Amino acid sequence: MIVTPSFFDSSRLVASIIEAAILEKPDAFLGLATGSSVLETYNFLSNDFQIGRTNFSTCFAINLDEYLGIDNNHEKSSALFLHKNFFSKTNFIDKNVFLIDGDNDGESELKRISDHLQNRSLDILVLGVGTNGHIGFNEPNDWFIASPHVVSLSQETIEANSRFFKDIDDVPRKCITVGIRDILNARKIILIASGSSKADAIHKLFIDDCITPRLPCSILKLGKDVSVVIDSELAFAAALNGN
Ligand code: GLP
Repeated sequence: MIVTPSFFDSSRLVASIIEAAILEKPDAFLGLATGSSVLETYNFLSNDFQIGRTNFSTCFAINLDEYLGIDNNHEKSSALFLHKNFFSKTNFIDKNVFLIDGDNDGESELKRISDHLQNRSLDILVLGVGTNGHIGFNEPNDWFIASPHVVSLSQETIEANSRFFKDIDDVPRKCITVGIRDILNARKIILIASGSSKADAIHKLFIDDCITPRLPCSILKLGKDVSVVIDSELAFAAALNGN
């Protein structure tokens, strides 16, 4: 775990870790989360590209999850989030970017994603975490699901993500996500979290010495090279959480 003074510093650090990894492997395959935790990281990466500090022209990318039943141009799709906040501001080549199609029939889309991840495993995985500990959209469950799959969102996630929608009823109830094996196969995993709503998940991740599908992020304890980057405010909140 790395504790930084602020969310700004966490985002700067995560962007720098990604840039160093790309320098080492210019054809790196990036797995990209969406949401407020990773937004500033993508801003740093985009700005660094603009000033010639980094280059994505030989990189590959995939989004980790997508709401089911919406297409890639939908304003709330993770595809459009990444396009607006990252791809369009950098020099990723379209054909190197794989986007989950939430509007495609579930089964054939799951196969398309699995085939893609079998051809090439992730070099750098950028994760946020849900308030309930979900990663990608792997929600708390009785078991871990290894491969890409369709998920029914938990009430907690629907409520947390309703801030991005006009009305809570507009939040799609289902989504497609990469699986836990796809996540653990990544050579380097960086999770960034901020805000007191994440205190419970971060507390359990570090204090409880168990790996449980009830807290999906706990599986990261088995990852090969995992960095969890949080700011001091969240670190304090997480430390106090059990008291
Ligand atoms: C979302 C996404 C995740 C993201 C997480 C946290 O629902 N599926 O990829 O990491 O929840 O989001 P945020 O950073 O906005 O809190």
